[in-house]
Amino acid sequence: MVMFSTTTQMANGTNLHLENLFLSSIQPLTKSISRSKEEVNKAIESAKTAQKLWAKTPLWKRAELLHKAAAILKEHKAPIAECLVKEIAKPAKDAVTEVVRSGDLVSYCAEEGVRVLGEGKFLVSDSFPGNERTKYCLTSKIPLGVVLAIPPFNYPVNLAVSKIAPALISGNSIVLKPPTQGAVAALHMVHCFHLAGFPKGLISCVTGKGSEIGDFLTMHPDVNCISFTGGDTGIAISKKSAMIPLQMELGGKDACIVLEDADLDLVAANIVKGGFSYSGQRCTAVKVALVMKSVADTLVKKINDKVAKLTVGPPEDDCDITPVVTESSANFIEELVKDAKEKGATFCQEYKRKGNLIWPLLLDNVGANMRIAREEPFGPVLPVIRINSVEEGILHCNSSNFGLQGCVFTKDINKAMLVSDAMETGTVQINSAPARGPDHFPFQGLKDSGIGSQGITNSINMMTKVKTTIINLP
Ligand code: G3P
Repeated sequence: MVMFSTTTQMANGTNLHLENLFLSSIQPLTKSISRSKEEVNKAIESAKTAQKLWAKTPLWKRAELLHKAAAILKEHKAPIAECLVKEIAKPAKDAVTEVVRSGDLVSYCAEEGVRVLGEGKFLVSDSFPGNERTKYCLTSKIPLGVVLAIPPFNYPVNLAVSKIAPALISGNSIVLKPPTQGAVAALHMVHCFHLAGFPKGLISCVTGKGSEIGDFLTMHPDVNCISFTGGDTGIAISKKSAMIPLQMELGGKDACIVLEDADLDLVAANIVKGGFSYSGQRCTAVKVALVMKSVADTLVKKINDKVAKLTVGPPEDDCDITPVVTESSANFIEELVKDAKEKGATFCQEYKRKGNLIWPLLLDNVGANMRIAREEPFGPVLPVIRINSVEEGILHCNSSNFGLQGCVFTKDINKAMLVSDAMETGTVQINSAPARGPDHFPFQGLKDSGIGSQGITNSINMMTKVKTTIINLP
């Protein structure tokens, strides 16, 4: 029996027709797929209606359903991971990890929601000058309404549930616009929520190209909150959207500052993992290494030894480096590489590309005039800039229009704290590569890297409003 079929373009450029991919317990998903404006309207209308009842559903019951969805999601990790492998060329093991991590996120969110939303405040009036004790104020958190969730291609499941779960536990409904690449995995994930028994219409999935339905969705008068992760489209959304809460993460140029006293083996391991995992297609990837000149030769050699061991090939074989998501991404990466070549960067490996597959490349002696020094390749190419002082590294980091994460490697915690304070990024990691997780940690970007803060607790708070009731005594 064909439960669900679709054609999707894969990272290696070929078209994949998926049929009967899901387990037999999964029902057809056709009801979740909306493409025309009329269908989008319908999905939002249903979400609006369903939310009213959902907001009145006891918190413990909402949490119970989320726990159920988390368990179903984990049960179906294999077929969902298979979609991630086929659609976005995520290495097989990482694909499974993404689904399991998502299940854990949903469960944690259910627990945290019960705690955060289960308590309010009580204030009395006579603590403010001029008032008698005649007013009692009770606060609680109420949902916003319809939350529009727009995750990116690199985590179509995890970055979707990081928006869906806090929205639902808070009493909101969800309209999900999955990424074009990764939509099938996202549809399967949504279906796990449907199987858990969430009310009809509460969670809708609207597929389609951002260029076709993006504006219609983000400017829709019945959308009450947008949670977006992706590129600079987010800036356009924030300019066009109505007066509604926005949560956005729009990429980064995460710098890794390496001081002279750093443990260079630790640095090399983190730079290779941070820079090349999922072929560099992570907002939190190390995107520029700023290394003190005195240790640069030794460090570059250590990094190169590790780069040589990275496996390159298909995601099914769990290779470290797999094809990047689209041909245009590969072309963009190549442009940056060519520019670096023309301007005299040292190529530690030969530049090699086959279709969307780009071999890992470390570029040494990169200068500030090279595009790779500032732009985000979102691919397996990592520039090294040799610096004469810590201040020079901080200056380079802060001159970026991005400010997502950064990291500093040193054995001196006092120096690390000074660098952390000076770096204009939402997070600074000391002695580790940038990363979003664990998923309950706050996650935010400064400058063009975004607005608002994510992480489970912050997302729950962001997707609610404070409501007060005041008892006036005679
Ligand atoms: O949007 C953040 C994502 O690109 C990176 O997440 O978990 O790999 O640090 P993570």
